Amino acid sequence: MTPSQKLKILSQGAEAIILKKGISIIKDRIKKSYRIKELDDKIRMRRTKSETKLLEKASQIIDAPIPSPDQRDSRAFQIKMPLIDGKKLSEHLDKFPLKKQKQICKQIGESIVKLHDSNIIHGDLTTSNMIYTPDKKDSMFTKRGDEKSATKAQSTMRSHKALTTSQRSASTKSDAKPLIPNKARVYFIDFGLGFISQRYEDKAVDLHLLKQALEAKHFKNWEILFNEVIKEYKNSKDSEKILKQFEKVEKRGRYKG
Ligand SMILES: Nc1ncnc2c1ncn2[C@@H]1O[C@H](COP(=O)(O)OP(=O)(O)OP(=O)(O)O)[C@@H](O)[C@H]1O
Ligand SMILES: [Mg+2]
Repeated sequence: MTPSQKLKILSQGAEAIILKKGISIIKDRIKKSYRIKELDDKIRMRRTKSETKLLEKASQIIDAPIPSPDQRDSRAFQIKMPLIDGKKLSEHLDKFPLKKQKQICKQIGESIVKLHDSNIIHGDLTTSNMIYTPDKKDSMFTKRGDEKSATKAQSTMRSHKALTTSQRSASTKSDAKPLIPNKARVYFIDFGLGFISQRYEDKAVDLHLLKQALEAKHFKNWEILFNEVIKEYKNSKDSEKILKQFEKVEKRGRYKG
């Protein structure tokens, strides 16, 4: 086994263990011993399949890791996908200047519009499920070492042929040097609670969860940040009706106390 193939545990959640293997991630849905084996296998298999399908769809329209079609070394409970080598927004959003935070939230809004216009509900829109990759001019990455990480992020994407449509068009011009994206990107991960729906209610709840996440984790500027998302969201297909429903969801939340 070469060093790059060594498995390293990146994260261990209640549902899944995330392993890093070279430039790939393996999301392995773990056994639940309190369920009988047959049922547990069924549930884990169903959820893995559903998440893979959603990732396949989402990665065609927004920045999201493309699940590997190579099933040779992946099993029914695993998803293999490229490692997004960036900064988890839950830990880093607050470190940026406010202008950049707003820009990032605008990008988040753009991606939600695209998902919802395709009737994809993410189901867990928190900044823990978003990874930021820098652009060339990103001040946060001008320190030595961080430049390197920006380059690495890009080459990881390239070696996986995991370029989304927008990335592809940005990278066709010159292949001479390793390309650092011109545009900073926000990758959405973790579609484990996602589903397909055209209901306004489901889209409104998706927005509500994001609002709650910003309020809880990024409380200093959460109102400004959520406003950026909503400004973008107004470009979505049924935004007026969905935002009306969003108000109802909010009220319901308040009365629950
Ligand atoms: N493609 C990826 N590239 C980089 N890191 C990833 C990737 N997928 C997952 N991770 C890391 O693993 C963590 C957990 O992954 P994910 O959110 O998909 O699993 P989860 O079981 O739903 O975990 P949680 O309950 O913490 O949300 C992420 O927060 C992220 O740090
Ligand atoms: Mg997660």
